[in-house]
Amino acid sequence: MAGPFGSGEPAPDDAGGPAAELSAAVTPFDSDVEGALRPRNLGEFIGQETVREQLDLVLTAATRRGVVPDHLLFSGPPGLGKTSLAMIVAAELGGSLRITSGPALERPGDLAAMLSNLIEGDVLFIDEIHRIARPAEEMLYLAMEDFRIDIMVGKGPGATSIPLEIAPFTLVGATTRSGALTGPLRDRFGFTAHMDFYSDADLARIVTRAAEILAIPVEEDAALEIAGRSRGTPRIANRLLRRVRDFAEVRADGRITVPVARAALEVYEVDGLGLDRLDRAVLRALLIQHEGGPVGLSTLAVAVGEESTTLEEVCEPFLVRAGLLARTPRGRVATAAAWDHLGLRRPATTASDPVLPVEIDPRPGARA
Ligand SMILES: Nc1ncnc2c1ncn2[C@@H]1O[C@H](COP(=O)(O)OP(=O)(O)OP(=O)(O)O)[C@@H](O)[C@H]1O
Ligand SMILES: [Mg+2]
Repeated sequence: MAGPFGSGEPAPDDAGGPAAELSAAVTPFDSDVEGALRPRNLGEFIGQETVREQLDLVLTAATRRGVVPDHLLFSGPPGLGKTSLAMIVAAELGGSLRITSGPALERPGDLAAMLSNLIEGDVLFIDEIHRIARPAEEMLYLAMEDFRIDIMVGKGPGATSIPLEIAPFTLVGATTRSGALTGPLRDRFGFTAHMDFYSDADLARIVTRAAEILAIPVEEDAALEIAGRSRGTPRIANRLLRRVRDFAEVRADGRITVPVARAALEVYEVDGLGLDRLDRAVLRALLIQHEGGPVGLSTLAVAVGEESTTLEEVCEPFLVRAGLLARTPRGRVATAAAWDHLGLRRPATTASDPVLPVEIDPRPGARA
């Protein structure tokens, strides 16, 4: 979905992307440790109480009835635990997990091969399911509904389709953009879990758990300090923990205390709210170049040299959630908190006046 303000303008490629530490997207460095840190069952999965309870009911009921559970869709921003949950579903059901992704299923033949190899009770996980190609998606409709696919044999007028039974399976789809799913596909999922950003308290538990697994000594308050700057995202929390550990080992005695965590996060340019360079660049472009908005997404993207989709999927959800940015029908608008956060004063003028935001006057009572 392009969003109301258009998207897809190519960004200049010399500009920096999101700071690696705070991008929720997975990096090769993450994948090394993510295996070790992944919760292995619903009991180990921290937070997302509602999703956990609902999923537990779906799985337990199906197991008791001796049937495969309905197809499951996990939607939500990157790094919140969709893949982890898919693995947990397979583990809880005792089936094996087959993993693929929407972009990998370009030809229906690729999907047919996966489907025909499933055995009863398997979980087929399709990551980024919103990016599946149309012909594969259509094959999936029949597979999800009737555990059957039609294989086309031959070409042209002589082509025939041969029905092929497939084993009852559970499809788990994950998407960061549930709005981009077609209606027919969405309708075929029996349960949709909307993953939400985590509370600081839950993230602190995730940090503490990860620190235990990685044998990192971390104080409780320090875990909370890291949690508070992790943008509600477990993947970021785990990554910041590793960066803070580096700092603790090189510049301190290895123990992660609050002062150590704060000093480390300053080095990595992660501010008190968990904003990184790109977030601050977006806010600055919005405040300084566009006087707080409204401004279109693609204009902002060009201003910071980043792709619209990155802004829309990575920065915006967090900036909106942090109460710094609002999406309005006329474009993106900065909130009063955004001006405060960057230490800028909102110009009290009409849009037609040529004004520049000014630094806040530090004298008491001097603020407008
Ligand atoms: N609820 C949780 N409890 C503990 N750790 C978690 C939880 N959710 C996620 N994590 C940690 O965060 C990491 C990232 O989670 P995961 O890969 O499941 O996210 P994702 O939603 O699939 O992200 P993406 O959209 O990028 O695929 C995992 O390796 C795991 O260590
Ligand atoms: Mg994933």
